[in-house]
Amino acid sequence: MLVCFCNGVSDRKIRRLVREGASSGREVARACGAGASCGSCRRAVHALVEETLSALDASPPEAARAYSRDSIAPLPA
Ligand code: FES
Repeated sequence: MLVCFCNGVSDRKIRRLVREGASSGREVARACGAGASCGSCRRAVHALVEETLSALDASPPEAARAYSRDSIAPLPA
């Protein structure tokens, strides 16, 4: 979904930038221009940044996700 019409920036691009380290609307704007022109998308950009940061905080650490219950061999008896 296109979020910033001025700069052709999608929600996927913004989420990717946050996963790669952007942590504010200002940093997203610096990286791709979203919100840096007319400014009408700034609220949406900010909401996407906050939502993505929350999702990253809520996700388990990489090591924990690497193993599922089924992938762990039972201990020898
Ligand atoms: S729509 Fe994003 S800066 Fe104008």
